[in-house]
Formats: sequence, C-alpha cells, structure tokens
Amino acid sequence: MDIKNATVFITGANRGLGLAFAREARRRGAAKVYAGMRNTDGFNEPGMIPVKIDVTDPASINAAAKIANDTTLLVNNAGIAALIDGPLSADVVAQSARMFDTNYYGVVRVTQAFEPILSAKPDAAIINVLSDIVWLPRPILTPYAASKAAAWSYTNQLRLHLRERGIQVLGLHVGFVDTDLTNGIDVPKASPEDVVRQTYDALIAGKSEVMADKGTVVLKGTLAAEVPGYITPPPGL
Ligand SMILES: NC(=O)c1ccc[n+]([C@@H]2O[C@H](COP(=O)([O-])OP(=O)(O)OC[C@H]3O[C@@H](n4cnc5c(N)ncnc54)[C@H](OP(=O)(O)O)[C@@H]3O)[C@@H](O)[C@H]2O)c1
Repeated sequence: MDIKNATVFITGANRGLGLAFAREARRRGAAKVYAGMRNTDGFNEPGMIPVKIDVTDPASINAAAKIANDTTLLVNNAGIAALIDGPLSADVVAQSARMFDTNYYGVVRVTQAFEPILSAKPDAAIINVLSDIVWLPRPILTPYAASKAAAWSYTNQLRLHLRERGIQVLGLHVGFVDTDLTNGIDVPKASPEDVVRQTYDALIAGKSEVMADKGTVVLKGTLAAEVPGYITPPPGL
C-alpha cells in the first residue's frame, strides 16, 4: 500500500514515534492525516486533524472511528513502558495489567473498531508498533515485554485473518528509539524519523515486518540458531 493519497489514522500522534508517523505521512502526500491523541489541547500541526482517542476507553475509540470513517491506514502506535526490578517483583501483576490494557488490549480494541472501515476499502493496511523486546530478555522490562509479545502474537493472527480481505498488516520491530519513552536511558538510539521512513518503505514494498535498526536485524537473525537471542542475547544487546 502507498502512503500517497492514503487516509491515515495514528494513535498517540501528539509526540514521539506517533508524531513522526503523522509528519512523514503528510510529507509523502497522504490525503488526510488523523492525529489520534488523549488530549488535543494545544496540538497545532499543519494539515493534521487532531482526534481524541484513549486506547483504554472503548467509548472514545468508537467516537474516533466515527469521525475517521474514511481511514485506509491505521497505525497502532500508542504505548506505555515502565521499568521494574525483575520478573519476581511484587509489582509485576499490577504493572502487567497496566501495560496490557494499553499495549495489548488497546491494539485489539482500536483494530476491532477500525476493521469494518478498512475492510470496506479496496486498499487498506494496519501498522502495529511492536519492539525488539518480543524476542529479547530484559528482566527490567518484564511486564512491557509480555504486553508487546502479546501484541506481536495478535499481529500474526490478524495478518493471516485479514489476508483474504486484502488488508496488509505490518509489524514494526525496533530497539531503543529517541523519544520521551527512553528519556534518561543512556544507550544508542534510533531516530524516530528514520524508523518511520523504513516502516513506510516496507509497507509500500508489500512487506509484513520491518526490523528498523541493526540490533533488531541481528536479533531476528538468531531465531533459528541453537541458542537464539531470546535465550542468550547477541553481544551489544
Ligand atoms: N522509544 C522506544 O525506544 C520504543 C522502542 C520500541 C517500540 N516503541 C513503541 O513505540 C510506540 C510509541 O512510543 P514512543 O517511543 O513514541 O513513546 P512516547 O514518546 O512516550 O509516546 C507515547 C505515545 O502514546 C500515547 N499513549 C499512551 N497511552 C495512551 C492511551 N491510553 N491512549 C492513547 N494514547 C496513549 C502517549 O500519549 P500522551 O502524550 O497522552 O501520554 C504518546 O502519544 C509505543 O508503542 C512503544 O512501545 C518505542
């Protein structure tokens, strides 16, 4: 699917990767860009239509889908992350519930609301913003990792399910990206603009997945090894 002339709806488009998706869609000639966000106050990006949406709130999702009922490309981008001591921390269950509500159930809810809109179009697609964490053990991100792994699994079920309706489903996997989410974490980070460029290029090329940084390419390359990266992470990850 091409971005030119697409009508794009992005969740969490007020900042970070979501804003980069919105800006790059405009730059590539999208017909319309709906910038979904929890709080539209003060959002003033040229050529974008701000739409209120909280992915944990079904009423706001349905209202957004009514407004954006000409969407041809849905970008499930909104997400949260938090650090934790590790898989045995007393807070794992509570934090997992918060992560799943946004990062997994949020994706499911928004996809369910927009699927009838997309199915009615001759050319439509969904991008799900996932992570290298679906394959990478990082104990301090245990609940986040579980929620993204669930979203990855959902993405794979969805891709096959929607294939006969002609809806392309693309999963974006990437490591650290330079956004508010990784503030204060002192590691090399990909730029949101570069990640978004690669993702749209992959969509246009008809792909189902994109690994948007070198580390994620290496990690995915280990999956068929006897000791894959999810058992022993490759050096540097
Ligand atoms: N940064 C990274 O290193 C990295 C790596 C891999 C994947 N990702 C994924 O990339 C996506 C975007 O993250 P980011 O790095 O751009 O983080 P970010 O700068 O913290 O932005 C997160 C966005 O999600 C929105 N959001 C959070 N909860 C929401 C909810 N319940 N309903 C609607 N919007 C909600 C936020 O809105 P508010 O402004 O209202 O909070 C914000 O717009 C996430 O799915 C994240 O997991 C990030």
